[in-house]
Amino acid sequence: MAQRDDRGGTGSTMSTGAPAPSDRNSLTIGPDGPILLHDVHFLEQMAHFNREKVPERQPHAKGGGAFGVFETSEDVSKYTKAALFQPGAKTDMLIRFSTVAGEMGSPDTWRDVRGFSMKFYTSEGNYDLVGNNTPIFFVRDPMKFPHFIRSQKRLPDSGLRDNHMQWDFWTSNPESAHQVTYLMGPRGLPRTWRNMNGYGSHTYMWINAAGERFWVKYHFHTQQGMKFFSNAEAMEMAGRDADFHRRDLFDAIARGEHPKWVLSVQVMPYEDARTCRINPFDLTKTWPHADYPLIRVGTMTLDRNPGNFFAEIEQAAFSPGNTVPGIGLSPDKMLLGRAFAYNDAQRNRIGTNFHQLPVNQPKVPVNTYMMDGQMAYHHSGAAPMYVPNSGGRAWADGTGAVADGWEADGAMVRSAYTLREDDDDFSQPGVLVREVFDDAERAALVETVSGSLLGGVRSPVLERALEYWSAIDMDVGQRIAEKVRSGGAAEPAAGMSES
Ligand code: HEM
Repeated sequence: MAQRDDRGGTGSTMSTGAPAPSDRNSLTIGPDGPILLHDVHFLEQMAHFNREKVPERQPHAKGGGAFGVFETSEDVSKYTKAALFQPGAKTDMLIRFSTVAGEMGSPDTWRDVRGFSMKFYTSEGNYDLVGNNTPIFFVRDPMKFPHFIRSQKRLPDSGLRDNHMQWDFWTSNPESAHQVTYLMGPRGLPRTWRNMNGYGSHTYMWINAAGERFWVKYHFHTQQGMKFFSNAEAMEMAGRDADFHRRDLFDAIARGEHPKWVLSVQVMPYEDARTCRINPFDLTKTWPHADYPLIRVGTMTLDRNPGNFFAEIEQAAFSPGNTVPGIGLSPDKMLLGRAFAYNDAQRNRIGTNFHQLPVNQPKVPVNTYMMDGQMAYHHSGAAPMYVPNSGGRAWADGTGAVADGWEADGAMVRSAYTLREDDDDFSQPGVLVREVFDDAERAALVETVSGSLLGGVRSPVLERALEYWSAIDMDVGQRIAEKVRSGGAAEPAAGMSES
């Protein structure tokens, strides 16, 4: 390690590049005297240290990530013209996994939904797919999202998490039943990020070269096998190693074990959406696989750890609104709300020009008329900054029908979605409990839910929660009620009952 005590050697530098005088001793009058105000190096260190953190993400604060590559092995060109999904295409990518409710230092193994955010640096610009490890979500109108997140975070007075508040929100919004069942089941406690699936969750649009439109749902299936923790294992791990998932991914990649996921999509012909018995844009529903089977697309492999966590993971900015030609959004109100929320959060969290940071920068040339602002780095020199211009700088001029659009009509209203024939909140979670979970998983579900309800949930929320579970499944509902009434010796549900 180079050491020096004058300004002529090979030690560290100031941020200006000039040699730094000392990283160990401040400048004083004599060894015991006061520090001098003109010790610029010392003052700069202190001032920069005070600004070292950026605000954590509002939801999904705790996470970790890695870089990798997505390879399209199949031919899905009849559904999309997106360059990254053409046969043989290899696209560099970044992924970030996270928990939703916990803060930056919270344990990775608390029971929660896991974020599954991907950024593909495609030859047509960056494509972000910001999903979760579940194919559904708690609510279906974005107006409810801030309320949902607040109910999962901390009480205003004690600053503690609170089961009562969580169940108050869920039971007051019965569309949450499917996602809550998922969360309380085995998938609420993935053993590692490598052992869980990822989903785009929303319905998106794909557009082929002929301009034909399709509705799609993305499924990333782990090739490491799905593995879960029990409540007791997750609880123990939360205390032993709060960073267990972050460490597991980093160490695995460092050892040369490169985790893989296979991407398949469900594709719905554009016109089917009109007549489908469920609303195909309702984020609380899955599509039946019998009607819309999985079509394989390719493989994602994670093979490179971040070189610097702050620069490449903390400052990473994902948005479901970042699409490329051949991929569009859909009438899912949640998705449309999200298309605004993320870039705005990042302007606040990271800064106006967050998109110019290396991890967020596209690999293709950018010609944007968004300019200046704090920390502007890339610029357009003396090129015209207005449109239209006579200076030869290109601008966009699309008019008429848009390739990734859909039809809409009607008066402006504030309303829930129009219900379809099979649209109800409890059928799909009921099927999950009865047909997907096995006996052991149903028994664990009863333990987990009753443990959570016994962790401080009071009347009238408690009664509502028991009704909610009976509506999902009569038998499981009764077993939960019995446990709760007997004050059951249930194991506490990891992460849901810290209050
Ligand atoms: C209207 C509903 C929603 C709103 C307004 C919303 C808003 C946000 C915001 C503001 C962030 C922080 C972004 C940042 O600071 O960089 C975030 C993070 C995240 N959200 Fe949402 N969200 C919504 C629904 C969802 C849904 C339905 C999913 C999954 C299907 C989801 C998955 C994620 C993930 C994975 C992250 C972490 C992104 C990262 O790794 O940086 N969110 N959300």
